[in-house]
Amino acid sequence: MTNAPVIDLVDTTKRYDDGPPALAGVTLSVASGECVAILGHSGSGKSTLLNLIAGLDRPSSGTVTVNGTRVDRLGEAGSAKYRRASIGMIFQFFNLLDDLTVLDNVMVPAQLAGMGKGEARRRAVELLGSLGIERHARAYPQRLSGGQRQRVAVARALMNKPALLLADEPTGALDSNSAEGVRRLLLDLNGEGQTILLVTHDVQLAASTAHRTIELVDGAVERDVVNSGSGSSGSGAGPAARTPLTRPAGAAG
Ligand SMILES: Nc1ncnc2c1ncn2[C@@H]1O[C@H](COP(=O)(O)OP(=O)(O)OP(=O)(O)O)[C@@H](O)[C@H]1O
Ligand SMILES: [Mg+2]
Repeated sequence: MTNAPVIDLVDTTKRYDDGPPALAGVTLSVASGECVAILGHSGSGKSTLLNLIAGLDRPSSGTVTVNGTRVDRLGEAGSAKYRRASIGMIFQFFNLLDDLTVLDNVMVPAQLAGMGKGEARRRAVELLGSLGIERHARAYPQRLSGGQRQRVAVARALMNKPALLLADEPTGALDSNSAEGVRRLLLDLNGEGQTILLVTHDVQLAASTAHRTIELVDGAVERDVVNSGSGSSGSGAGPAARTPLTRPAGAAG
C-alpha cells in the first residue's frame, strides 16, 4: 500500500506501575483506508494502545504519530483539539449523554470544534439519515435499543469527519442481530475509505470485518497478518441506497 500512514507507532511502551508494562515496545503502522483489528485477551493492552493513539494517555517511551501529529508530545489542550479534529471513537457501552437528545448528542463534537449550530444540525441529520435512525433524532438515548444507540455513537464519531475511527469492542454489548448491523456499518464505512482501528477479543468479528489483524499478547505484537477473504476488500457491493458517510470535507473548519 502506498498511502501515507495514518497511525505510526515506534517502540511504544506504557508502564503504569512496577509490574510488567501494559504495552511493551510496540511498533506498527496503519495506512489510510485500512481496517485493522486489534485482537488479544483481556489485559493484553488493547485499550491501552487505543488510549495512546487517541492521546488520552501518554507512552512511557517511544512515539505515537497520527496523521503527521506527534500525539505523545501534545499537552492537554492540544490533545483535546487533536481528538476533536482527527479522531472518532466508539465504545462498548456507547458513552452517550443521557440528558441530551439523539440529535444533540451527535452535534456535540461539531459544536466543540466551533461549527455553527445550523451547519452542525444539517450534518447530524444527514448522518442520522444515512444510518437509518433519523426518526429517533428527538428521542433520548435510554429509549433506544443497544443497536440504535451504537448507531448514534457512530454518527457522533463521524461528525467531524475524522481521519481515524477507533472502536473499542463496539459490538460487545449487543445481541447478535444488532452486532451484525454495526459490523456491516463498519464495513460500509471502510468501503468508503474510512480508516478504522477495531479493538475486539472476537476472532470472528476481526476476521469478517478487518482486512488485517494484529494480535497483542502481554502488551507486545505477537502476530500481524492480512486476513484472507474478509468482506472489506470489495468496492462494488457498497451501500448503494445510502448517502456516503465519509465524503471528504470541503473547507470545513
Ligand atoms: N490506568 C491504569 N492503571 C494501572 N494499570 C492499568 C491501567 N490501565 C490498564 N492497566 C493495566 O494494563 C494492562 C492492559 O490493560 P488494557 O486495559 O489495555 O487491556 P485490554 O486488552 O484492553 O483488556 P480488556 O479486553 O479486558 O478490555 C492490564 O494489566 C491492566 O491492569
Ligand atoms: Mg479493553
